[in-house]
Amino acid sequence: MNDFLASLYFETDPLLEKLRGYASAHNVPVLRPDSAAFLRTLVLLRKPGKILEAGTAIGYSALLMAKAAPDALIETVELDADTAAVARGNLRDAGPDIERRVRVILGDASEVFASLRGTYDMIFLDSAKGQYVHMLDDVLRLLSPGGLLVADNCIFYGKVFDEPASAPHKHRTIVANMRAFIERVLCGGEFDGSLLECGDGMLVAVKR
Ligand SMILES: C[S@@+](CC[C@H](N)C(=O)[O-])C[C@H]1O[C@@H](n2cnc3c(N)ncnc32)[C@H](O)[C@@H]1O
Repeated sequence: MNDFLASLYFETDPLLEKLRGYASAHNVPVLRPDSAAFLRTLVLLRKPGKILEAGTAIGYSALLMAKAAPDALIETVELDADTAAVARGNLRDAGPDIERRVRVILGDASEVFASLRGTYDMIFLDSAKGQYVHMLDDVLRLLSPGGLLVADNCIFYGKVFDEPASAPHKHRTIVANMRAFIERVLCGGEFDGSLLECGDGMLVAVKR
């Protein structure tokens, strides 16, 4: 199925295609093509006015969302200064409208989320996988009622399907934290959501 899907998704936007090429040449992890297509569909459906993202990398997903929601304001948090600088350059290359609407914040997403006020219509988590669960209280506080939470890499190469004890030692904490995150979002009564086998696992949930 993955090979079939990979043959179907291709980027038609020249700048997004350029960023994907750069990411592949420089080993920067960006959304897989099927996840990118799904994220774009979600944004087109939901038409969020304000989006918060954790994990900018070189700005690929931020640019994709900005293009899918032409009126949206996007704040995106990146930990690595060099990567954030590349993202800012890419967003500048996308033109003044995109540069005005997308703000790259340099910092640790957990700390930045904790410091933010106001509300967002959509939050996209794509940073340190083991931290999602620790960010959930802030995600809930920052999401407007009916707001959309999307989180990538929730299947973590299939490792979340098994108990953390059976994961390689270096992955145990991430697996345990990711399972706790998924359980709280799907079973905690605060969201209605689903975990989809799209890309490396996308969790999509609506705040009650
Ligand atoms: C998978 S990449 C993001 C890809 C991007 N969303 C895209 O699809 O174009 C994850 C990014 O999160 C950043 N990151 C890791 N830990 C972070 C943290 N605690 N806070 C903010 N960013 C973090 C990494 O430096 C990396 O650039």
